[in-house]
Amino acid sequence: MPPTLQETSPAAPSKVFIKTYGCQMNVYDSERMGEVLSERGYVTTQAVEEADLVILNTCHIREKAAEKVYSELGRLRRLKSRGGRDMKIAVAGCVAQAEGEEIVRRAPVVDLVFGPQTYHRLPDLLDRHGETGAAVIETELPVDEKFEILDAPATKPVRRGVAAFLTVQEGCDKFCTFCVVPYTRGAEFSRPADRILAEARKLVDAGVREITLLGQNVNAWHGDGLAGHDWTLGHLLNALSDIDGLERLRYTTSHPRDMDNELITAHGVNPKLMPYLHLPVQSGSDRILKAMNRKHTAAEYIELVGRIRDARPDIAMSSDFIVGFPGETDADFAATMDLVRQVTYAQAFSFKYSPRPGTPASTEASQVPEEVKTARLAELQALLGEQQASFNEACKGRVLDVLLEKPGRQEGQLIGRSPYLQSVFINAGDHAIGDTVKVAIETVGPNSLTGHMVEA
Ligand code: 5AD
Ligand code: SF4
Repeated sequence: MPPTLQETSPAAPSKVFIKTYGCQMNVYDSERMGEVLSERGYVTTQAVEEADLVILNTCHIREKAAEKVYSELGRLRRLKSRGGRDMKIAVAGCVAQAEGEEIVRRAPVVDLVFGPQTYHRLPDLLDRHGETGAAVIETELPVDEKFEILDAPATKPVRRGVAAFLTVQEGCDKFCTFCVVPYTRGAEFSRPADRILAEARKLVDAGVREITLLGQNVNAWHGDGLAGHDWTLGHLLNALSDIDGLERLRYTTSHPRDMDNELITAHGVNPKLMPYLHLPVQSGSDRILKAMNRKHTAAEYIELVGRIRDARPDIAMSSDFIVGFPGETDADFAATMDLVRQVTYAQAFSFKYSPRPGTPASTEASQVPEEVKTARLAELQALLGEQQASFNEACKGRVLDVLLEKPGRQEGQLIGRSPYLQSVFINAGDHAIGDTVKVAIETVGPNSLTGHMVEA
């Protein structure tokens, strides 16, 4: 059902403030919420005090995620009573999905609760709330309906920067025993290829030069391609790279089990596909990988990385790690350190295991003591930090293509990204945001590079 028009005073459009927590998919979802609401006459604001509607787009991955949302709701309650305005408060995203009615019970200030698969119904939810004044809770998982509605031609052109996200796949059927995603985002769903291609063209028309395809299990994406062929992500990336004006493609997050030959080959032959791959392994111990239900061994992962590097030798590898998973021994942790030494990462994210209610691992008896987790995390991060530093160091003296994305702090400075996703600072001369320039890398820090432009 298309959104209905709302009577708003032409002088003062309603304002929505959206606070986004967590992953890139939430960033994408928040942008789409803004678009859905703009059809309703809302404009987005960066100032929470002037908002008529505040949306917390929440994430459930990190520890105490729900508690952090409740303290934010406490601050909003005080703001609302101080300002004396009719400010509506909504909780969206994965915490909303997981907590449902509990949110309104603990925080009666909340007017709307909706999960990640129902924000396309926002106008309807606002109407329902307007009719009765009672809190509206919407935690179904109708993901196909969501994309059906979001894919309807927008009346307003999209506004994006140079690099944009595009969700192609949602949900997860893998059920890693530590993870809430299969419960909060629901079953795996792939958007149809023609819709993805249409959205990508729209983004490129709006000035986007780099698109990152998003999905909890992005490389599980599959669909009907052109001429009736079954497509996997490799085909989709190749079709996207035919779009004129689109210069760079990336995708995240991938599962090792879904890296098929098509996708690996694309890394070798598709020049628009950037040489960077986030491929979480979580642990290097086969015993722990099994307990996590990751469905592969350490050796299989290492062999897979070898095949990816055969296709694209300079690829920057990235990963997620969990230390202190229930039952993890010193030997298991040593196996993780070993795997890291064998693979060598350009960058990585690492976390202490923390139990998520409702997940199988959370009720394991053999939880690892906090101080052991802390020590292991420090050791792992030291090694990953060294590897990141040497990856960056190896870029010194090289000439890299840099896509200029935004202004830097200093006069004339622009910040761009290398093919390996490093931030690069340069004095940009005549070049503008959206240009790709050749940069000779001069200095290297832990998180960024600097250099000067050279002739192409
Ligand atoms: N404890 C610690 N880390 C977790 N992650 C997901 N669930 C948990 C948990 N219960 C990490 C995984 C995942 C990343 C997004 O967050 O490493 O890949
Ligand atoms: Fe969570 Fe595992 Fe699915 Fe990734 S693959 S979203 S870690 S269940």
